[in-house]
Amino acid sequence: MLGHGFHIERFDLIDSTNTYLMGKAREGAPGGLVAVADHQLAGRGRLDRRWEAPPGSSLLASILLREHLEPGTSHLLTAAVALSGAAAVERLCGLRPGLKWPNDLVIGGAKVAGVLAEADTCAPGGGPGTTAVVVGIGMNLTWPGPPGVGGTSLLAASGVVVDRDLLLDELLGELSLRLDLLRTAVGRETLTEDLRGSLVTLGTVVSVETPGGTVVGRARSISTAGHLVVEVGDDEVEIVTGDVVHVRPASEGQPGAD
Ligand code: BTN
Repeated sequence: MLGHGFHIERFDLIDSTNTYLMGKAREGAPGGLVAVADHQLAGRGRLDRRWEAPPGSSLLASILLREHLEPGTSHLLTAAVALSGAAAVERLCGLRPGLKWPNDLVIGGAKVAGVLAEADTCAPGGGPGTTAVVVGIGMNLTWPGPPGVGGTSLLAASGVVVDRDLLLDELLGELSLRLDLLRTAVGRETLTEDLRGSLVTLGTVVSVETPGGTVVGRARSISTAGHLVVEVGDDEVEIVTGDVVHVRPASEGQPGAD
């Protein structure tokens, strides 16, 4: 099925829509291919975690993109998907999720969706200078996620039972607008501003688990490469990857003040 220039393949059951599309990328499949499933047997999350959801309870979709990316802008591709998901939710549910760095969608502090981007610079196909990137999104429609994770669902947060296909259609429509933005310097600036404005992480006191240890401080900004800049005492620490906990909201005191 075609929609907004994307070609959608639907599955009742699959191992992982990301894994499937990365396989297709390595066979030379074109950008714009989308896989959506009712259920995944081996869904994957960030940082090598599993992503599990009961059948039919979530939007489980991945998109193969083959964009010409200016150096240091690949995070904007992932952000484009997260922002498109947030805009689609706003249209269908009347409330707009914020973004928690790097790419979670949150409502009232609770995670409603996660985004996983994977790139293969060697995958054949695509135009010169393009990279195959598979961006997957898992969004809780009626199930708030596993116990203990503090997640929510669109149903719990808004009272709306969202139609999965409609949500995907809205998301892809929003994404096609943002892919156009990615293709110009002015557009990338617009996308960056949208990202900064949507990141509820900025201004909050965070505790970040990084491969090098725990960093606690106030999240100040994101760098042009999409890294989180955290103020720790008189220093600034740039975080490339990690798990963020929002310790205190923007309006409260400095870290260590209490
Ligand atoms: C995260 O850890 O927050 C990212 C989760 C991404 C899950 C989605 S579900 C559809 C796609 N297929 C996968 O195996 N993972 C992504």
